[in-house]
Amino acid sequence: MSKKQRVLTGITTTGTPPLGNYVGAIKPAIAASRADDIDSFYFLADYHALVKCEDPERVQRSTLEIAATWLALGLDTSRSVFYRQSDVPEIPELTWLLTCVTAKGLMNRAHAYKASVDANLKAEEDPDFGVTMGLYSYPVLMAADILMFNAKRVPVGKDQVQHLEMARDIAQRFNHRYGELFELPEAEVDEHVATLPGTDGRKMSKSYDNTIPLWLPEKKLRKAIMKIKTNSQEPGEPKDPDSAAVFSVYAAFASPEQRAAMRQAFADGIAWGEVKQQLFELINAELTVPRERYEALISDPAKVEKELTVGAERARELSRPFIAELREAVGIRRLG
Ligand code: TRP
Repeated sequence: MSKKQRVLTGITTTGTPPLGNYVGAIKPAIAASRADDIDSFYFLADYHALVKCEDPERVQRSTLEIAATWLALGLDTSRSVFYRQSDVPEIPELTWLLTCVTAKGLMNRAHAYKASVDANLKAEEDPDFGVTMGLYSYPVLMAADILMFNAKRVPVGKDQVQHLEMARDIAQRFNHRYGELFELPEAEVDEHVATLPGTDGRKMSKSYDNTIPLWLPEKKLRKAIMKIKTNSQEPGEPKDPDSAAVFSVYAAFASPEQRAAMRQAFADGIAWGEVKQQLFELINAELTVPRERYEALISDPAKVEKELTVGAERARELSRPFIAELREAVGIRRLG
């Protein structure tokens, strides 16, 4: 593979993809993967899933659903490397090499870990109650995901920026001790990308239980959209698009022309029911064909498995020689 700029991101396999994830992450990633000047790496972070999820069926099912989602939405696997983390054994191997240069104090500062400690202290529990080593040290695993492929650009949500800083810190320490082996990765947080509000108007998030799943059948999708919270303004009353969740969702799917027309319709007093109907039609039109492809893939897991196997093979063409170099660098070498 040529040495273009490398873009890499991972998706933790613990659930079913929500609509917000599609507009906020998947759609822009698939679009970016078509650019000629980058090499893209997208992977299913199933080792990360184990940190949060102890239900084996759910991890497996989520892996299938997320892989099928990316494929159904048009990821071109001949242009980007699409693989499952656990198919690349060099990643956990690198995790250990990195663990040995990672300051414990750095991990102490991780937001996710600190949040658990704070919650425990508040509940007058032992500070580390319920904290596994997986939760504590997963920023190192994430650093290995990135550094394994010397990815330069890492598109992530804001909540992951700290992990990228940690990955840079770990890479620097390793480079300092063993030579310039790693590029320093950078988080790419796209401020323009839509964060969808959920059905209650707050940010769409699993923790608020306000998400709309991406692959609802048509009728259920319509129903979910009809449930998005609005205020009690009557038809004919001018409405403010910028404070309406339905408008934000509409804007995320609409062309600039459609968006402008909807703004005008708000000023003219369009009824909430009508906005929702138009929103449903817009989303449904975009998802109808991919939804059929998705259903076909879900009922043919062997096909998805084959894509992932090919992806892992391509990933390992890079990770195998690189891990050999890294082992050599740290002194894990043949004798004589
Ligand atoms: N931790 C990330 C999340 O929860 C997922 C992830 C795992 C990831 N490994 C990664 C993202 C490497 C970017 C690069 O969203």
